[in-house]
Amino acid sequence: MSPTIKPAIVSDLGHAVGPARAPRDAALAIHGLTVSYSEKPAVFSVDAAFSTGEISAIVGPNGAGKSTLLKAALGVIPRLSGEVYVFGDTLRNARARIGYVPQSASVDWDFPTTVLDVVQMGLYRKLGLLGRLSGQGRAQALECLDRVGLADFANRQIGQISGGQRQRVFLARALAQDADLLLLDEPFAGVDAATERAIIGVLKLLRKDGKTVVAVHHDLATIRDYFDRILLVNVRRIAEGPVATTFTTENLQATFGGRLATTHLSELAIMDDGH
Ligand SMILES: Nc1ncnc2c1ncn2[C@@H]1O[C@H](COP(=O)(O)OP(=O)(O)O)[C@@H](O)[C@H]1O
Ligand SMILES: [Mg+2]
Repeated sequence: MSPTIKPAIVSDLGHAVGPARAPRDAALAIHGLTVSYSEKPAVFSVDAAFSTGEISAIVGPNGAGKSTLLKAALGVIPRLSGEVYVFGDTLRNARARIGYVPQSASVDWDFPTTVLDVVQMGLYRKLGLLGRLSGQGRAQALECLDRVGLADFANRQIGQISGGQRQRVFLARALAQDADLLLLDEPFAGVDAATERAIIGVLKLLRKDGKTVVAVHHDLATIRDYFDRILLVNVRRIAEGPVATTFTTENLQATFGGRLATTHLSELAIMDDGH
């Protein structure tokens, strides 16, 4: 299982200078992350590293702190303690390289903007405002919508499409942004089977291009097909590593406790008990 964690020694400048646990080239390295909304932490002292060019899953029960972990990794909610490095750099410097697709239920969609507008927002960094407003920006945004199967929805209001479609709009925006690290919060929730296949196809193509994908995922049946690595969390880190060695009955039980039937777990997980 995972190697012993050595805490990073962090200089006054916020750079890791000591024997940090995560490789310096990790796309996303999280050290000792603790996040609290109240007295009880939602995420406690989590260490994790997501390697460049891999598709990783974050798995855990409802309320385990998965969404909180992603948001804190992005810097959109404050950390109580801990460090986050993106491609070996500070979050501030690397923020523009991250694309984020929030959990669909968590966003207020009641604002008047079209699907195409949302995707074009992803082009600010690459093209600047003038480029974004040009025909070139529009064509690029349409191409990204096409990749997620939503070309026909370009002119719809964002509030008038389904939750799964909105998530695909965000994925298209991350594609337009040409993000190097994609953080996706349950990208397959509320999508039909054909759409799920289309999305995983897009993610695997991104991996081929050397992009890094980290997705909160709840369907244990597809873990082995979709993901290279897995981080199991329940407030604390339970286990992390390659799916082949980490997605085990024992680790799932440690993560979910009595919430999943053992028979169900053993069907899904790699048998690690010799039966
Ligand atoms: N904005 C918030 N304010 C207060 N508590 C929150 C907030 N967001 C999440 N929580 C709480 O933090 C815990 C972790 O939530 P979350 O990260 O959404 O879990 P998950 O994504 O694994 O279901 C839960 O107990 C949840 O109720
Ligand atoms: Mg969540």
